[in-house]
Amino acid sequence: MDQIEIKGGRPLRGEIDVSGAKNAALPLLFATLLASGESRLGNVPQLRDIATVGKLLEIFGAEVEREGSALRIDTRGLVSVEAPYELVKTMRASVLALGPLTARFGHARVSLPGGCAIGARPINLHLKGLEAMGAEITLDHGYVEARAERLKGARIYLDIPTVTGTENLLMAAALAEGETVLENAAREPEIIDLAEALVKMGARIEGAGSDTIHIQGADDLAPYEHCTMPDRIEAGTFLAAAAVTGGDVLVHGARAEHLEALLAKLREAGVEIVAEADGLRVRGPERLRAVSIKTSPHPGFPTDMQAQFMALMCLAEGTSVISENVFENRFMHVCELQRMGADISVDGHAATVRGIEGLCGAPVMATDLRASASLIVAGLAAENTTRISRIYHLDRGYERIEEKLAGLGAEIRRVKES
Ligand code: EPZ
Repeated sequence: MDQIEIKGGRPLRGEIDVSGAKNAALPLLFATLLASGESRLGNVPQLRDIATVGKLLEIFGAEVEREGSALRIDTRGLVSVEAPYELVKTMRASVLALGPLTARFGHARVSLPGGCAIGARPINLHLKGLEAMGAEITLDHGYVEARAERLKGARIYLDIPTVTGTENLLMAAALAEGETVLENAAREPEIIDLAEALVKMGARIEGAGSDTIHIQGADDLAPYEHCTMPDRIEAGTFLAAAAVTGGDVLVHGARAEHLEALLAKLREAGVEIVAEADGLRVRGPERLRAVSIKTSPHPGFPTDMQAQFMALMCLAEGTSVISENVFENRFMHVCELQRMGADISVDGHAATVRGIEGLCGAPVMATDLRASASLIVAGLAAENTTRISRIYHLDRGYERIEEKLAGLGAEIRRVKES
């Protein structure tokens, strides 16, 4: 298996491009199931998870072709509504097939995704919402089956503003009979991107991006032409990498309105961030100041940036308390950072990070997607060499990250496992 080797301590300088957002492209690809015809999605990153969705759509009977940075999806030949365990176990976002298939065909059979490294990640709220719309939900042999003559609009209160739960129900409501109101809906920018594509398909949606979304169901929908929004978490990861190495980088595609909480905390830590042309310029200080964070649903501090921000705080002046309030087990990166000399203690949902002068490169292991990003950030700032194993986690969400960072002067390369 590949590893990534970093010789740290070099400030990053130059310009870098953000790819299309993985967490927008995934629901957007499933949304093509709502219509019969040829959709085209631009700015789709070349990632393992995207390839997995492509395979899943082909199992349903769609044709999926990559044309440069776009994907063309033809759904005129759909023959199956079953998402098999072999694929779903590799990517839990496959659960996003439930809403569109049930809405379009009255039937969906999706393997339960099971837990993952960062938490149990149940889908009870997805199912509760579909039941409220009239679907009959049954669980058997590890599969969830949804059936409905035709989904009916309903008023649904989400106990937790679940991101993919909101996306699943948004897509289901787009073809349901009558009006659906999603209350306490997720407000992430990826929800707005999905709603924009659904509106292009003929859906009538108001309030996407707020905590209450109104959807008037249509009798049928048309294919879309759409361009995926830039990946705000990739952008945030590059901002963190430039900040921790005392660099000066222009991140093309980074949008301040997608990252307000992160930018506020980076500025509090002494990082200079300026909006320029089509991105954000970030300059790292001599030494970062310690800042505490609490993750929460958008517009709060994004849980997907918690691990990367912790890597910064390992080197800051002072003590930072990092509270993870979205997932129950998202501190897997802590023991790897401790191997690099970080002074961190964890007590339940809170990690206390006492900043030190320098981290020391070491062999470390990636455990989940954003934990691997945090090890990259730490390795870029550490003295000597850091070797990161199990980087298949990283390849799920970052397109050619070592090439992009090498373009900023980082000494980073992909090597075969020694
Ligand atoms: C999405 O996951 C993202 N994935 C995650 O990004 C991200 O961390 C997460 O939202 C939070 O922002 C995609 O968009 C593909 P949730 P999702 O449902 O939708 C609980 C990454 O690194 N919950 O908002 O699965 C759940 O257990 C990934 O790119 C229920 O209890 O997250 C969690 O504690 C990781 N019941 C909380 O809600 C449900 O039915 C938030 O989960 C659904 C969720």
